[in-house]
Formats: sequence, C-alpha cells, structure tokens
Amino acid sequence: MGEDGIRRLVAHAVQAPSGGNVQPWTFLARGDVLHCRTDDTRPPTLLDFQGSATHLAIGAAVENIDLAARAAGWACQVRSFPDPADPGLVCTLAFSRDPRLPHPPLADWIGRRATNRRHGPARPLDAAHRQTLTDCAADSGALLQLITERTELTELGEVIGAGDRLRMLNPRLHREMMAELRWTPDEVRDTRDGIDLATLEADAADLAGLSLARHWPHLALVRELGGGAAFAEGAVKSVAGSSALGHLTVPGTGPTAQVAGGRALQRLWLTATSLGLGLQPLTVLLYLFARAEHPDATGLDATETATLHTLRKRMSALLPPRTGHTELMLFRLSYAPPPTARSLRREVDSVLRFEAAGPTPPGRPSAP
Ligand SMILES: Cc1cc2nc3c(=O)[nH]c(=O)nc-3n(C[C@H](O)[C@H](O)[C@H](O)COP(=O)(O)O)c2cc1C
Repeated sequence: MGEDGIRRLVAHAVQAPSGGNVQPWTFLARGDVLHCRTDDTRPPTLLDFQGSATHLAIGAAVENIDLAARAAGWACQVRSFPDPADPGLVCTLAFSRDPRLPHPPLADWIGRRATNRRHGPARPLDAAHRQTLTDCAADSGALLQLITERTELTELGEVIGAGDRLRMLNPRLHREMMAELRWTPDEVRDTRDGIDLATLEADAADLAGLSLARHWPHLALVRELGGGAAFAEGAVKSVAGSSALGHLTVPGTGPTAQVAGGRALQRLWLTATSLGLGLQPLTVLLYLFARAEHPDATGLDATETATLHTLRKRMSALLPPRTGHTELMLFRLSYAPPPTARSLRREVDSVLRFEAAGPTPPGRPSAP
C-alpha cells in the first residue's frame, strides 16, 4: 500500500467523531499493518469512564479506515485488543489487495459527516428513514431504539438537561468541560482539537451565559443556592424540537463491545448523513450513569449519585435497559440545515508514525 496509501487511510480515520473532539488516537504503521492506539499523553477524564468514549471514537475511526480501504480496493482485517498485555493497542488492521471489492457507498459520506447542533424543524421522522436507520444498526449487530413521540421527547429532554446541569455544577466535570472549549479562532487553529465555540451553533445570549459559566467561583455559588436551571434548557429545547431521539446499544460489555459499538455508530451516523438527517450526540448522561452505577465509582458525591439514580428511573420508563448490552450513545436526529462550522483535526503526520516491518511484534510506541 505504501506510506501515501496509509496516510490517506489515516486521513479518513481522523475525520471520525470523538467526545470533546479530543481525537484520542495514535497510529503506527508497519508495512501493510496499521496499529491504532489510545493517545496516552491525555489525562483521563471523569466522563470517559473506563475509557468507553475513547474506545468508541477509535471504533469509529477504524470503521472509516475499513470503508476507505475497501473503496481503494484493499480488504481490511481488523483485530480488537490483539495483545491482552497491552490494552492501549486497541486494533490492528491488516490490509491485502483485492480489486474486486465492491465500492462501499458509506465511504462517500465520511467527509460530510459532522455533529449538527442546529435546531431543526420538529418534523416527524420519515418512516422509511426510521427503517433504514434501524436496519443499519441491526446489520452492524447493534440495537437502535428511536423515540419520536412528542411527550416522550419532552420528558427525555428534561432528563438529559438535568444531566447537563449536574455536569456544569460539579467542579471536576466543569473544569474538564471548560478545558475542552476553544474560545477564540487562534485557539482553534493552534490546537486543532477541542470544541470550537462556532460549532455550538449558540446565539449571543447563550454565548454570554457560557462565558459567565466559565469561571467556577460563579458556579460554586449557583451550586450552593441549588440554582442553574438554565443549564438544562439547551437539551430541553433541542430534544423537544428534534425529529427523534436515538438510543444505541450493542450486545456485550467492556472495551471490545465499545469498539464494535463505535464502528456501528459510525455506520449509523454516515447513513443518517446520507439521508439528510443531522445528528447530535447527547452523551453526558450515559457516562454519568455508568459512573454512578459502578460499585467502585468515584468522583460524584452522594447527592449527585442519588440524582442520577432518579434520572435513570425516568429514562428507563421510556428506554428500558437491555441486559447484557453496552449503552453507547443517546443522540438526537433532526432535519436541520447543515452545520455552519466544521471542527478541525490534528495533522495526520502528528498522529501517525511509520516503523520498518519486521518479524517481531512492535514495542509500545511513544505517542507521536
Ligand atoms: C463518544 C462521543 C461523545 C460525544 N458527546 C457529545 C455530546 O454530549 N454533545 C455534543 O454536542 N457532541 C458530542 N459529541 C460530538 C463531538 O463533540 C464531535 O464528534 C467532535 O467535536 C468532532 O466534531 P464532528 O463530529 O463535527 O466531526 C460526542 C462524540 C463522541 C464520539
């Protein structure tokens, strides 16, 4: 395949979504084998409970590589966590030439997929679109539940909004969220990661609120007074005005299921894009649930944990938990116009290294 071929595949990989646009991956190529690793230079975060968001993002990146490789006439054999002693090595991808492979149509949508935070017309989800999305998830071994009924969307919007409020008023979650935001165009260009404010599709009043909320002492006071209802409003409005709320799960648990889920999510997101549907993940609540429901969980106080248990009960009334499944994502779908801004990615050469191919397995590389 050569270095240019590998570079092209990694250029597709990095277009994958990642929580906070942290781009939690690095790549090491040895001949026609590509190793996808977690970027261990990033400190762990409270939301990325047990690396689940990281594994999901890498799964999405791997799906992009598989699609792009097949589009270029290369079969791609993926192994997840091939070395139990090296949990940072998430996948190896081995390529072999096969010009007879049919062109995968989803490959054409990789560059057009984006998080769409615009509010859409609250138009009902087209029945054919619903079927296509549900089939797409099932074909990837995942399960998609879609909520479309207005009163149910309102209820779930409130539950999700309550999770957003909790995040904003927890000191560590607040700090981590603020660290993800890129406040100026210079910061966006310099880092090429994180959340560019322009992609939030926020109006002037929302931006002013966010700017005030940037400083923890303001929020510490709000927390003490039991305020902050406004932090729930964004989700309430955006979910109520959506065509559907999706809940995606995959059978199995642990990192391998999360990677498989990331691949399923990416196929679903590309399919939604091809149907003209905007998709915005709303994941904070699920990651908080995962933490609050784990026996060894830390980072949340007793009041926060109790609030999350109550929110879980409300959500379960509409989206009952699937035993033995990993919850991957909640997201909203809308027929919104395309996003007005696109998020950047780090340069391919800053996340990809080449090593001479040899008979021995590669050592753990230092992050590029
Ligand atoms: C695991 C995961 C969690 C995410 N959670 C949220 C979220 O809660 N809210 C949101 O607006 N976007 C969320 N996103 C979208 C990312 O912010 C987005 O993918 C990233 O900024 C890159 O932008 P792009 O998707 O437009 O390429 C999430 C994405 C992933 C993969």
